[in-house]
Amino acid sequence: MGANTVFRPTAIQKKALSLLKSGAKHILLFGGSRSGKTTVLVMAIIYRALRFAGSRHLICRYRAKDARSSVLRETLLPWLDNTVGKNGYNYLAHESMVTLFNNSEIWIGGLGDREQADKILGHEYNTIYFNEISQLSYAAVTTAYSRLAMRVPGCKNLFIYDCNPGSPLHWAYKIFVLKKTFLSGEPLEKPELYASMMLNPEDNKANLPEDYISDILDVLPEKQKARFRDGLWVKAEGVIYDRFDETMVVKVCDLPEKFDRYAAGQDFGLNITFVKIGWLGDVIYVLCDYGAFNMTTKSFNAELEGRLWLNCADGLGVPVYCDPAGGERIQEITGGMKANNSVESGIDFINAKIERRQFFVCEKCTGVLSEIWDYCRDEAGEIVKVNDHFMDALRYAIFSDVQQGVILA
Ligand SMILES: Nc1ncnc2c1ncn2[C@@H]1O[C@H](COP(=O)(O)OP(=O)(O)OP(=O)(O)O)[C@@H](O)[C@H]1O
Ligand SMILES: [Mg+2]
Repeated sequence: MGANTVFRPTAIQKKALSLLKSGAKHILLFGGSRSGKTTVLVMAIIYRALRFAGSRHLICRYRAKDARSSVLRETLLPWLDNTVGKNGYNYLAHESMVTLFNNSEIWIGGLGDREQADKILGHEYNTIYFNEISQLSYAAVTTAYSRLAMRVPGCKNLFIYDCNPGSPLHWAYKIFVLKKTFLSGEPLEKPELYASMMLNPEDNKANLPEDYISDILDVLPEKQKARFRDGLWVKAEGVIYDRFDETMVVKVCDLPEKFDRYAAGQDFGLNITFVKIGWLGDVIYVLCDYGAFNMTTKSFNAELEGRLWLNCADGLGVPVYCDPAGGERIQEITGGMKANNSVESGIDFINAKIERRQFFVCEKCTGVLSEIWDYCRDEAGEIVKVNDHFMDALRYAIFSDVQQGVILA
């Protein structure tokens, strides 16, 4: 895009803009790469900021640095130059915030870092835009929900989202495409408040290099092509637990009544997660999970106690294997002890269980299920450290146990 380019939405971007006026409260644009999702949503935020003087808008993604490079520098600032001009706004780099001449504000930040999250969630907004939600946990997104509380006459507050599609087990697929409540799986109470639309690179041909689709996307491996060219929700390339399939998801009523023993895993951090398993012979059942965002360890433990998840049927406690980097937090968890953190051996063990079909996940475990098909390695074979919070807790639960020699695998 050159200087002084006027924003001319593509046909599909026009449709996306009308979707924002449709009455839906949550709007997701998903689809292939470079299809114009971020541009149209950033433009929508600029329009809203201009139209409603004194309004405040938030653009967030997982990592603040990605928000600054791909959204702020590549999209927001260039389009602000083209719409209000350099004199019409002020970018305060240390605040990660833009103020417009009419006193509206656009904030940019990452939800993956505690200090950043506290800062950006310390305000109220008229629009919250979650960029690339395939990397954001459901807990992080819903924690931000309460901040959509700014009141500006005439401005209808909105949540907007975009992503390249993740796996069909991802929370966004369940809510926006299947129109089901993420945690219970019940149909959404007000489905009309959730709208989504697919945008693909083909729709944005006019703004892409001529050979982008033919020479880059068309030659991708099948699964990547499905995601990045065709905008489909499929399992990723390089999925670590690739052999896990839907027949290993069990209904609550089909779980065994008794287990030989139980164990749990606990991960700390801004995304704090817990996973409980039961062993029956050689078979592992993942029984329940819970995750929260920006919650103290104490409150988290109280929540687990309240759910009675830390006791076995016989009244004995459950060992909770905790992230060994958790330090003093480990003592705040009832039954907490250091987990074994051999990542590769832990993964190999779980994969062997999956291959032997000795691994089942209860349908209630929305955290584990929403991550299991997105937990993957990059091209260099390194584990991609996003959206892996339940995966870590799961591994602590399973593998620490095994390593202590309790289970002879
Ligand atoms: N209406 C438009 N006018 C001019 N350029 C546009 C328009 N829409 C998108 N573009 C350009 O097309 C390219 C891709 O757009 P954008 O970054 O919005 O896509 P995206 O779907 O968010 O991509 P990704 O999946 O990589 O996040 C960018 O270079 C952007 O500047
Ligand atoms: Mg984008």
